[in-house]
Amino acid sequence: MKTAKIIIDDREHEFPLVTGTEQERAIDISDLYAKTGCITLDNGFQNTGACASAITFIDGDKGILRYRGFDISELADKLSFVETAYLLIYGSLPTIDQKSLFSRYLTENSMLHEDMIHYFVGMPPRAHPMAILSSMVNSLSIFYPLSFVDDENPQEFDRIAARLISMIRTIAAFSYKKSIGEPFVYPRHDLKYCMNFLNMMFSSPVKPYEFDLEAERVLNKLLILHADHEQNCSTSTVRLVGSSMVNLYASVCAGICALWGPLHGGANQEVIDMLEDIQRNGRKVKDVIAMAKDKTKNFRLFGCGHRVYKNYDPRAKILKDTCATFLAGRHANDPLLSIALELEDAVLHDDYFIERKLYPNVDFYSGILYRALGIPSAMFTVMFAIGRMPGWIAQWREMHDTKPFRIGRPRQVYVGPAHRSLP
Ligand code: CMC
Repeated sequence: MKTAKIIIDDREHEFPLVTGTEQERAIDISDLYAKTGCITLDNGFQNTGACASAITFIDGDKGILRYRGFDISELADKLSFVETAYLLIYGSLPTIDQKSLFSRYLTENSMLHEDMIHYFVGMPPRAHPMAILSSMVNSLSIFYPLSFVDDENPQEFDRIAARLISMIRTIAAFSYKKSIGEPFVYPRHDLKYCMNFLNMMFSSPVKPYEFDLEAERVLNKLLILHADHEQNCSTSTVRLVGSSMVNLYASVCAGICALWGPLHGGANQEVIDMLEDIQRNGRKVKDVIAMAKDKTKNFRLFGCGHRVYKNYDPRAKILKDTCATFLAGRHANDPLLSIALELEDAVLHDDYFIERKLYPNVDFYSGILYRALGIPSAMFTVMFAIGRMPGWIAQWREMHDTKPFRIGRPRQVYVGPAHRSLP
């Protein structure tokens, strides 16, 4: 076994080197404190591996993203979101029987408990949909039985997972209907996952939704691209919260809250706000770029940069192409797309962004597509959360199955006052 040596005060200590499937290497420092009395300090977890995981692989330098070994572009082209969810959670593509059972669970669990509808009534119409979503997802633990998920009761996990994937979509559509003051449209058993969502969003008593297969395909792709992204902020939150042995609903609710932030999933709403601001105020792209580089301004170019990708985010590449073909197919022109393309070109040719390896990320083009689907910008992060749900569930399950099971509990270096007495 290969080892790494750490020398502290002239004493040498050896630690195992762990090698992943793709030859990425890590120093296993689990017994660092026991051996040396030291801990590691890593602000923002830039170099800390919190787990070994078999779900998603990212090579940030090469711009590679794979779920369970399959390239993201292949998955986005060929699979449905439901099949992708199954793949992430259970580790392999579903057989015909497994797929029909999973779909049955999704259909059986698509309706919200009628009493939950009353929650929406009391919410102010201007409430942010992410606030509604997190509250409602946590409320599922009030309405649905919470038996502990264990090896003897595997079907209980399957049902809870299906319930979350299915109901988050219903909650999202209901929160939109609430915000525009229209009656809720209930899920239908005869529609597939994405079409069911579009129907709940856009059907009304005066105008039924005209099924749009191209919109369904685009939504399917968007959700697949969002479905997992290894140990990002929200997923790490789900794992950490779940490690206290709290239930899955509460764990993913915490993930939804983490996703909301503008540096994470909330960036997709910020991107459109930024593009609209450029358009509305006739700003020049070069001025916006200059502002993003100016450290005295509290402004970042949203949808740009990534902790892991130091190359073009493969999801952004797929979304950029999808934007072009989807809009062209409808003979539609979104002026925000032209601004985004101009911004991207400026980023790719500017030394500041080149030196820091800042490229467009998944959020740069996703909002333009959501807009083209008729989804309002306040709902963009909700869409991200719908897509990310299978990933959170898969990661929660993997964390629970890890032996030996440990609660997540980082340490710290205390830098406050030394011991003192009250006056
Ligand atoms: N605009 C301008 N400068 C940037 C940007 C940006 N979007 N992103 C990073 N930088 C600069 C940053 O100021 C720093 O410069 P310096 O070295 O001079 O101090 C350098 O690049 C490194 O940035 P960092 O903040 O240390 O990098 P990070 O890995 O901690 O942050 C990030 C990653 C995604 C939070 C950051 O790039 C960012 O804020 N981007 C904008 C928000 C965004 O689009 N978030 C969505 C991420 S993708 C979806 C998801 O998975 O969440």
